[in-house]
Amino acid sequence: MGVTDDSGVMPEQINYNIVTLTRFLTEEQNKHSEATGDFTLLCHALQFSFKSIAYYIRRATLINLTGLAGSSNTTGDDQKKLDVISNDLFIEVMRSSGRCSLLVSEEEENIIFFSGANSADGKSSEHARYAVACDPIDGSSNLDAGVSVGTIFAIHKLAEGSTGEAADILKPGTELVAAGFTMYGASAQLVITMKGGSVNGFTLDNGLGEFILTHPDMRLPKKRAIYSVNEGNSLYWDDRVKSYFNSLKEAQPDNGKPYSSRYIGSMVADAYRTLLYGGIFAYPADSKSPKGKLRILYECAPMAMVFENAGGQAVNSKMERMLEVVPEHIHDKSGIFMGSYDEVEKVKSFHK
Ligand code: AHG
Ligand code: MN
Ligand code: MN
Repeated sequence: MGVTDDSGVMPEQINYNIVTLTRFLTEEQNKHSEATGDFTLLCHALQFSFKSIAYYIRRATLINLTGLAGSSNTTGDDQKKLDVISNDLFIEVMRSSGRCSLLVSEEEENIIFFSGANSADGKSSEHARYAVACDPIDGSSNLDAGVSVGTIFAIHKLAEGSTGEAADILKPGTELVAAGFTMYGASAQLVITMKGGSVNGFTLDNGLGEFILTHPDMRLPKKRAIYSVNEGNSLYWDDRVKSYFNSLKEAQPDNGKPYSSRYIGSMVADAYRTLLYGGIFAYPADSKSPKGKLRILYECAPMAMVFENAGGQAVNSKMERMLEVVPEHIHDKSGIFMGSYDEVEKVKSFHK
């Protein structure tokens, strides 16, 4: 019990043993005697970009950052002002970290090389041993309505002896060193996982300016009757996808009730809810988008890594393990079904 003062008001309980993301990363680094600290520094740079993007999103309406930038990106989407600002910020943070050799961004047609023979200045930084893929703002169509959006990131390590080339990022998700996302919602939530590790969630304390570990070792519920998909596309779905989703609207054998539907339209927000509550999120390939809509390198693979490490599954529209899909080009797309272990099993059973 806390101590009350003369006014009878209970003071806030102070927690002196807070695990900040900085502390978490240091402790992770200490577990690996061979670690140089470069990965930790790269993550520090990433967390700064998330804090900055969170700050601009919160102030967007006040400082005229809503609306379109008047340009479109390489996959033909209209760019919002915040797409452009977040992308520029992310690029500069990765460049100045000195740890990122090359960057793929949804908003950039080509790979940006910061070091090695392909870089603008031809310089090589011995510490730039990582390749990063990012979606600076995911769900940007939701921005002006104040609906949650996010940033997705995926980190690969350069091959031994490589100074940074396309092959260092055109790799399957099984090779990822780390991946995750930050959701900018009621608070900023950062979710990160490392190869073979657990999934940990942090909440940005705006007062402290620190991400605090609030969701250690996140595990997806094994099943949950919630589905998340843009049903406006059902006209274009193939019969297996149609019958799967139709089956969810029927009385289920265990409780006689149909599934609930939840769709925000920002993958990060739909994924975060699915991670916490369980269920299924899908953006299937269809006759309108035969290769799917979501991008492999900076949407599907990093989310698949998070979901698998939290005990769930992620597959493409051919029911192949998402993490094993190898993109040919940096902006390649895929259909995706991801969520609770049993829910993805059910999707697979409709595709046999
Ligand atoms: P982005 O804003 O990075 O282009 O991504 C939007 C994606 C993803 O966030 C979401 O799941 C999906 O597009 C929504 O698409 P629909 O509007 O077609 O449902
Ligand atoms: Mn996106
Ligand atoms: Mn985006």
